Amino acid sequence: MRRKLVVGNWKMFGRLARNQALLETVRAETRNFTNVDCAVCVPFPYLSQVQSLLNGSRIAWGAQNMSQHEEGAYTGEVAPGMLQEFGCKYVILGHSERRAIYLESDEAVAEKFESAIKSGLTPILCVGETLAERDGGITEQVVARQLDAVIAKSGVQALAKAVVAYEPVWAIGTGKTATPDQAQAVHAFIRQRVAAADGKVAAGLCILYGGSVKPNNAAELFAKVDIDGGLIGGASLVAEDFAAICSAGN
Ligand code: PGA
Repeated sequence: MRRKLVVGNWKMFGRLARNQALLETVRAETRNFTNVDCAVCVPFPYLSQVQSLLNGSRIAWGAQNMSQHEEGAYTGEVAPGMLQEFGCKYVILGHSERRAIYLESDEAVAEKFESAIKSGLTPILCVGETLAERDGGITEQVVARQLDAVIAKSGVQALAKAVVAYEPVWAIGTGKTATPDQAQAVHAFIRQRVAAADGKVAAGLCILYGGSVKPNNAAELFAKVDIDGGLIGGASLVAEDFAAICSAGN
């Protein structure tokens, strides 16, 4: 039986005072949840603050990107070992905003994935199609390509130490959620694709749905057999909403 996981993706939002108020409320409201794992992925400068606010709580934390390199002359980049020093459990990799705005290729994402696994971080690998790709009927092709790049580099066994997040690009920040059936269909496809390489890894793989998950649609999405929780953007910045979504997974 897979546990549910709800992860907040703060994106480039946050201020010290706001973060503190948000996390204190979320920490208090999720205190008694036992069946759901919760985490927040925050901007790099706040990792230290989040570490001290969440230490000893049920909420884990992580980053939203990292370099594939261990160290070196890479101005502006952040290494996996640095994330570990701040207690990160997770790192989001290949988010569609990184792929689209910063032109991260499948190969670069696969290198980062490999590097995260080697460092003991749990990568949250984001995959998903654009609206044009969905309309063109190539959703499965796109998701398979993104997934296969990682499997080709790290092997299917690496997915036993990772999380996959299916995030249709057209549903991110748009208020337009995939219907539970639409999401379930792609989640099932992802699990089948992994199962073709390793049935046991596929059965244990945590596959999150992301894209306009809100308190009013979370329970319906999480009830689907292959949806193991959510990657939450906008709603993770509102304490009551994020706690309510965690509660839907509990
Ligand atoms: P959203 O973002 O919940 O605001 O749609 C999800 C994400 O980009 O991870």
